Amino acid sequence: MAPRFPAAWLDELRQRADIVQIVSGYVTLKRNGHRYWGLCPFHGEKTASFSVDPEQQLYYCFGCKAGGSVIQFIMDMERLDFPEAVRFLADQLHMPLPQMEDDPDYQRRRSQRERLLNANREAAQFFHRTLFTDAGRPMLDYFKRRGLSDSVIRKFGLGASPEGWDTLTRYLLDQGYTLEELKLCGLTVVKPAQEAAADTPARPQRAFDMFRGRAIFPIIDQYGNVLAFGGRVLGDGQPKYLNTSDTPVFNKRLGVYAANLLRKERHLERIVLVEGYMDVVSLTQFGVKGVCATLGTALTAEQARLLKRFAPKVYLAYDGDSAGQHAILRGLDILQAEGIPARVLDFPDGLDPDEFIRRDGPEGFEKLPALTPETYRMRRLREQYDLSTQEGRTEYAKACAPILRTLEPVELENHLQELSVQTGFTREVLLAQVGQALPRAAAHTPAPRREPLKRAPLPAGEDVRAEELLISLVATGRLPGDIASEEDFLDPQLRELFLAMGQGRSPASLVEEQQDENDRARVSRLLLTPPSDSTDQLIRMAQDCLSSIRRRRLEEKIQSIMRSVNTLSGDNKKAAMTEVQALSAKLNRLKSAR
Ligand code: UTP
Ligand code: MN
Repeated sequence: MAPRFPAAWLDELRQRADIVQIVSGYVTLKRNGHRYWGLCPFHGEKTASFSVDPEQQLYYCFGCKAGGSVIQFIMDMERLDFPEAVRFLADQLHMPLPQMEDDPDYQRRRSQRERLLNANREAAQFFHRTLFTDAGRPMLDYFKRRGLSDSVIRKFGLGASPEGWDTLTRYLLDQGYTLEELKLCGLTVVKPAQEAAADTPARPQRAFDMFRGRAIFPIIDQYGNVLAFGGRVLGDGQPKYLNTSDTPVFNKRLGVYAANLLRKERHLERIVLVEGYMDVVSLTQFGVKGVCATLGTALTAEQARLLKRFAPKVYLAYDGDSAGQHAILRGLDILQAEGIPARVLDFPDGLDPDEFIRRDGPEGFEKLPALTPETYRMRRLREQYDLSTQEGRTEYAKACAPILRTLEPVELENHLQELSVQTGFTREVLLAQVGQALPRAAAHTPAPRREPLKRAPLPAGEDVRAEELLISLVATGRLPGDIASEEDFLDPQLRELFLAMGQGRSPASLVEEQQDENDRARVSRLLLTPPSDSTDQLIRMAQDCLSSIRRRRLEEKIQSIMRSVNTLSGDNKKAAMTEVQALSAKLNRLKSAR
């Protein structure tokens, strides 16, 4: 996590960003008891199981078990990472950001960034307007020839850069941008002044538009910032696509084309990742959802992680040519390394997605089999071996083994059957081969993760519930400080929460701290305010929990001593019996106190 916000400042942000108000911007909430309820924005539902707890500043959905603090909510709704969500909220609340404030360089970079983004936006609007003028006629005709509708042209903000040398540059200079800024944006190219030769006058420096006479695809990020442009030549010129190189606001390795549209999709089941601008526009026009493209480079880990925010799965839909097929293998490597479930759409006849969907329609597209990474990799391997010879079949089977190694048993079984048919080896032989391909201990073991929590044996059902209720009571902050103690919690996660709250940590901050989604959901649920309004009642509930927990602990201890007592003798036995007596007395006191 790059910038760390001070905890106190985050606490203030969370307090000011009242969760009920923020969530209400997205979900209609109704008060019921001391919580608010609404339809969960994270899964489709007809009855409200999404609850917001104003007291703890947490939300939790009893349907899909999403939960967290206001920051988590913004992360999920706006598809932002943690620092981005914090900035998003701070911005809305007009809260100045901490630490970066006294970094003058940050301020400078920030205001430069804003100016460059504004220049890009003006350029995009200029290109889009131009498309519908005489100067843009050839580009509009081009888009129409490629079958694009007016509405998809508008949806992607497509445009036209005029033929002239410096039409856009002059326009933006008039708007008050400097030549330096236009250069930084990659919109303008400046040719240095030429020394005067003896017989000719000196030529002053000249500024040209980077994009001239091209059909324009603006590259817009998930927040709506125009970062860069791709410009397609109308005929057969070179390069076919001219792209903005990296600038202070654009890094082609980090973003994807059409991220702005992804953000608007809710409940996307999959991302369809293609190679080309036209493929995105065309598939989208035919109604395919969640389409985007990398920007003329192979998929990077950063892009993969970005995609993960929008959908749980990624379909690689690259061109059917050999470059595309090679890019798929690399893309699969990246996605698998990031733990993102992937599928491959293999287009027939060397077609690209745009050509395919025009030929076979959206129905044809939906019918394309989505290959698992293993099926795809095996298919590619198969092309390298001559399966009509024993040797080819043997080598092929050996090459497939490491691919299958990581599969779950059920999936493995499917592939083994297929491989058995292809190679003639029995399932058992193949299984042995796959097993043999297991990495040797040191070679491939992932680095050990952070020391896992020491897991005490989990207490039995009733106790768990008592401990969980107890922690939610502690989280209200309305119990006397010394009522419960660390030992009352056997569950290590609950114990840690208890200790952290003892140090004054707020429930919302504890939820945010959970790295794992499941933990976050569990902790959110645990820390919801228990249903009661009076402090007296809260305390009584806590006392009930405590006596149930403590009683059970005593009973268990007594039983365990009794079990071992027969193996003891002499003084040891006597001491054990004395302890049992003391424990029993304690237990009776507890029982009669109720
Ligand atoms: P393709 O050559 O497959 O083009 O390049 P395409 O998308 O099918 O384009 P159309 O259908 O002919 O218009 C795929 C992608 O590679 C990048 C672009 O992002 C393009 O969309 N590319 C290609 C470039 O950046 N520059 C080029 O000169 C060519
Ligand atoms: Mn194409």
